[in-house]
This record gives sequence, structure tokens and C-alpha cells, in this order.
Amino acid sequence: MTYQVALSFEDGVTRFVKCGPRETVADASYRARINIPLDCRDGACGTCKSLCESGSYDGGDYIEDALTDDEATAGYCLPCQMTPQSDLVLQIATTSDLAKTQAIAFDTTLTDIRRISPGTYGFSLELDDRDSLAFLPGQYVNVGVPGTDQTRSYSFSSGPTAATATFLIRITDDGLMSSYLRDTACVGDRLQVTGPMGSFFLREAKRPALLMAGGTGLAPILSMLESMTRLELQHPVHLIYGVSTDADLVELDRLQFYSDRIPQFTFDHCVADAASTAINKGYVTSLVGPEHINGGDVDVYLCGPPAMVEAVRGHLRERDIEPAHFYYEKFALVAPVAQGVR
Ligand code: FES
Repeated sequence: MTYQVALSFEDGVTRFVKCGPRETVADASYRARINIPLDCRDGACGTCKSLCESGSYDGGDYIEDALTDDEATAGYCLPCQMTPQSDLVLQIATTSDLAKTQAIAFDTTLTDIRRISPGTYGFSLELDDRDSLAFLPGQYVNVGVPGTDQTRSYSFSSGPTAATATFLIRITDDGLMSSYLRDTACVGDRLQVTGPMGSFFLREAKRPALLMAGGTGLAPILSMLESMTRLELQHPVHLIYGVSTDADLVELDRLQFYSDRIPQFTFDHCVADAASTAINKGYVTSLVGPEHINGGDVDVYLCGPPAMVEAVRGHLRERDIEPAHFYYEKFALVAPVAQGVR
């Protein structure tokens, strides 16, 4: 038996390694030619100290100088000593470059293009070697735009185990990918994607979660929800999905499907345009209620344009609400502009 260990680097690159139950994460990483930081390899120096975001493990033998009890309680671990007891996600305190690794390029075929609303395309890619791509729900890849030397970043809207990778793209008049999909794309085109990337991904559920999505920021949230269909959630999960106009609303049927399928999941949506036919008109902050915040003991996952991220942060700050975790991804029309964890 082997477990999958995700090594998430500071620059957003994530590499996955297979690790046996009696193998240390450091040994598995080196076997995969990934040089995570190491010095003593004996649990004495603390050089390899990392944060475990998800999963269970045996921490191994080490001294207090390398890892204090408080750090261990907070989820820090020593890859040179730890052995997995489940799949793991580790934040590695260095860049992929320093670890002498990089994001991987994958060859794919365009298998579907659909206009799923007046303002949104969906497209699907089939990987030549599907098994070679692992990603965490919420992450993105850089997609090469055919006929150019440019890439654009898109979050998976499909779950990590889906056979086909799917994406959402907001249509812009002169956007590079919009123009390609509108004017020249044909099913069967070859596209290259590089990744996976990003620190905006679903963590182990230890408390209620509030998901917030703006526009096509819904894509990574859909990937998270797809993953949740395979989990036994113990805590409520609520989504607030907001768009500018009715033309931007997508995937409500799919959200309803998840609501039916995941007992703990509920959702609301709103449209900012006063002329909208939606029941809730306004911004996502208008739908945040105390029942979604759980007195601050909540993990917030937010993906949307920068103004939305700042509006939500301001809304919580004004009410003296400090969520246990605030994971966010800001996206501009060209690429994600910032990711963060607080
Ligand atoms: Fe020294 Fe892990 S390398 S504690």
C-alpha cells in the first residue's frame, strides 16, 4: 500500500509523491528527485519542518529543539521522521526551484467547448495520461493558448478523480482564450497544461466551512464540492455564490445536485444587477449570516475578483469576526493575482 503525499511549495507549485507506510516522507521525496530542505535527517535540527494541512501520520522520533509540542499540536511535522497513515498534504517551506523541481507539463486534447451562459464558456480537456496528473480540489493549471506563446490560468471545475478535466472561462471580447474558444477552437485541438498550482485548496474539515464564489471563481468551489461527495462531512458547509448579471449565472443545477447529494451542504446565490430576476439582489456580503460564521470558528474559502475578496474581509473585520482560517484566491481576467491564507 502507498499513500499520496502532496508537497505544496511556497511558489504555488505542488508535486505529488507516493510514500509507503514505513517510508519517511523525506525518503519518498528524494526517491522522486525532489530535494525538500534537509540537514540532519535525524529529527534533531528542524530544517525540514513543514506544516501538515491534511491527513494523519506517525511523527517519528525527534527532539524538542527540532519540533516543540506546541508546534506538533499546531500541525507542524518533520518529513525526515514522519511516516504516513493516510494521504497527506504538506506545506514545504521553500520554493520548487530550490527543491530542484518544477510544475509538470501535460499534453491534452480539447474534447468539448460549450457556452454555458451568455457570459461564460466551459471547456473540457482529456489528458494523454490521466493517471499522471494529481491535483488538490481548488487548484489551477496554466493552459497554453494554441497559436500563441501565452498561457492563461484556470482552476479545475472537475474533481481530482474525474476522467476529464473541466474549466470555466468568463468571456471577454478580446481575451486571448475567449477569442480562441470563440473563433478557432475545434474539438481535437491539442493543448498543453502545466501544474498543478496554488495554495487555494480544500483542507481537512475540522469545523464548519463558508464557501464564497464570485463569477467564474465558482470553478474551484465546484471542484471542492465534487470532492466532498466522497467525504463523510461532520460539519455544515454553506456556499454563497455571487455574479454581476443574470448572464453570468452558471451551474445552478450542479449546485442543486450537490445540495441533494451532500447532506451538510446548502447554498445561496445573488446577482448584483438591480434588474436581475434573482431572488437575492446585491453582493455576497448581504447573504452572510451569523449561522454561517459559527462565532468565528469557521473556515472561509473565497475565490473571486480582488474587490470581492477585500469587501468580504472588510465585512468580517467590521463585525469583529476573525475566522479560524481565511483561504482566498483573487483572480483578474488574465491570471490569479494573489492567493493567501490567514
Ligand atoms: Fe533535521 Fe529533519 S532534517 S530534523
